[in-house]
Order: sequence, then structure tokens, then C-alpha cells
Amino acid sequence: MRRPLVAGNWKMHGTRASVAELIDGLRKQEWPVKVDVAVFPSCLHIAQVVEGLGDKAFAVGAQNCAVEPGQGALTGEVAASQLRDAACSMVLVGHSERRQALGDSDQDVTSKFAAAQSCGLTPVLCVGETLEQREAGQTLEVVGRQLDAVISALGIKVFAEALVAYEPVWAIGTGLTASPEQAQHVHAAIRAQLAAHDAQVAGGVRILYGGSVKAANAAELFGMPDIDGGLVGGASLNADEFGAICRAAGN
Ligand code: 13P
Repeated sequence: MRRPLVAGNWKMHGTRASVAELIDGLRKQEWPVKVDVAVFPSCLHIAQVVEGLGDKAFAVGAQNCAVEPGQGALTGEVAASQLRDAACSMVLVGHSERRQALGDSDQDVTSKFAAAQSCGLTPVLCVGETLEQREAGQTLEVVGRQLDAVISALGIKVFAEALVAYEPVWAIGTGLTASPEQAQHVHAAIRAQLAAHDAQVAGGVRILYGGSVKAANAAELFGMPDIDGGLVGGASLNADEFGAICRAAGN
């Protein structure tokens, strides 16, 4: 059985004061014992979150890392080794906002995935199609290509220590959620693609759904056989809502 994981991606949100408030709210939640919980604050707030939630069983991750794992002359970037040193255990790679707005290519995403693992961080590989691609019937092709970029460069075994997040771009921050059936269809295809290389690895990989997850739709989504939790954006900035989503994954 795969243990569910619910992750909050705080994106480019937060000030020291609002993060302190959020930490406070998270500390008051009742956490389900059978669910892993992770939060991905901005790099500026990682230390504050590690300090504030350090005694809780939370994983803390970053939203991106540099393509090279080690420190170096690369102004504005943060290396996976630095994230590890800051007590991160996970990192998002290939979020659609980075692919679309910041030009992260499949090759960059693959390098970041490898950099993360070489420093002992667990990468969360984000994949997903745009509305245009979905309407053109290209969903599985697009997601398959994003996944294959990593498999063909790094091999299948790397997925024994990684997660995949399916985030349809059209569902991110729009209030539109993929139906549980739509999401399950893509999650099953992702797992089948992994299984074509290694059934055991595929069976163990946690595949998260992201895109307008909230307390009201979480249970239905998490009830699908290949949906192993969620990657939550907007709703993760509200401690009560995020707590409720995490509890939904435990039921
Ligand atoms: P929303 O939950 O705000 O739609 O964001 C999803 C997301 O992009 C998480 O990484």
C-alpha cells in the first residue's frame, strides 16, 4: 500500500509575518497519522518553517533548484546541496509555472531531478497539459513525453526515490478541478508508462494530483486508486483548509 502524501506549494506567497501565522495555524491542526505531509515555502521562508514546524513530522521542500547540484557562480539560483543543508528533504521540479513562464525545458527539469537526488533530496516531478493540448486530445502524449524525458535520461530506477505530480495546467488556480475520473485516467497512464519499464517501481511511486484541490473535493479525488495524495496551491495557504485536505487523505 502506498502511503498518501499531501503537499502544500506556497508558491511566491508569504511574508515573515504571514508565514508565522500560517505556522501557528498548522501547529493547531489535528494531523492524520497515516498521511505524510509536506510544505514547500519560498526559499526565503524555509528556515522559518523548519524552525517553526521542526518538531512536527512535516517534510519541508523547495519549489525549484539549480541544474547543477553544487555551489557555484550562478546568481539568483539555489543549489540542491544548499537546500539539503537548510534541512529540506524534497524539491519540486518542472512545475508548469516554471515550464511556461520561466522556460524550464524537459532537459532542465531532468538535470534538476538528478541534482536533487544526488544531494539526497526527493524530487517531485510535475507534469501536465494545457487546456489547448487537452482539447486537441494530446493529454497523454504531452504527459508521457514529460515523463519519458526523465526516464530516458536517468533510467527507471530513479523513480524508486521520487514522486510524480499530475497537474493539468487548466486546473491550476482556476477553480476548475479535473474530475476524479479524468485525473484517475491520467494517473493510471503515468503508472502504466512506468510499469512498462519496471512494474515494482511503478507500483511504489506516489502520484499526486494538483489543480484546485480543496477540502470539498479532496476526498473524492483521493479515493481514486492511482491518486496517492495532492499537491495543493492556494488552499494550502489556509491552515484549516490544508488540515482538512490532509485529513481527507487519511480516510
Ligand atoms: P492551486 O491548488 O492553487 O490550483 O495550485 C495547484 C498547484 O499548482 C500546486 O503546485
